[in-house]
Amino acid sequence: MTFYEAVGGEPTFRKLVDEFYAGVATDPVLRPLYPEEDLGPANERFRLFLIQYWGGPTTYSDNRGHPRLRMRHAPFRVGPAERDAWLRHMRRAVDSLALPVDQEQQLWEYLERAAHFMVNTFEE
Ligand code: HEM
Repeated sequence: MTFYEAVGGEPTFRKLVDEFYAGVATDPVLRPLYPEEDLGPANERFRLFLIQYWGGPTTYSDNRGHPRLRMRHAPFRVGPAERDAWLRHMRRAVDSLALPVDQEQQLWEYLERAAHFMVNTFEE
């Protein structure tokens, strides 16, 4: 069984990303980074990426090609403050899933590592 299946498949990732974007929508640091008025398309891209990463359908790459996430984040300022805000909303979103602790830890370790990797500036 893939991790995607083990945690409950599509509805779990939908909830995770919906909870995350509910936080982003009201965040004074993060919201201005998102170029589109409607966060729906960004929500879908992130959900499909996570689903693919954890062994679910590959719809993300069928539509978008190779993820190249650092390159795709290069146009946006991702400094320590943005990373910390991102992780704060993600922590709340992960908690909302109430997963068994081993799954919760596996998911969180990945997200924390990925968020640190995405930082592209240390300038104030
Ligand atoms: C896209 C911000 C970390 C995955 C984006 C976009 C912004 C953004 C502004 C453009 C929205 C759009 O899709 O139109 C940030 C910030 C981060 C962060 C401030 C702080 C560390 C991450 C991490 C991941 C991730 C850790 C993966 C685990 C994605 C994906 C997209 C995206 C999959 C869409 C890429 C595409 O196909 O165009 N992010 N991001 N981001 N982000 Fe992040």
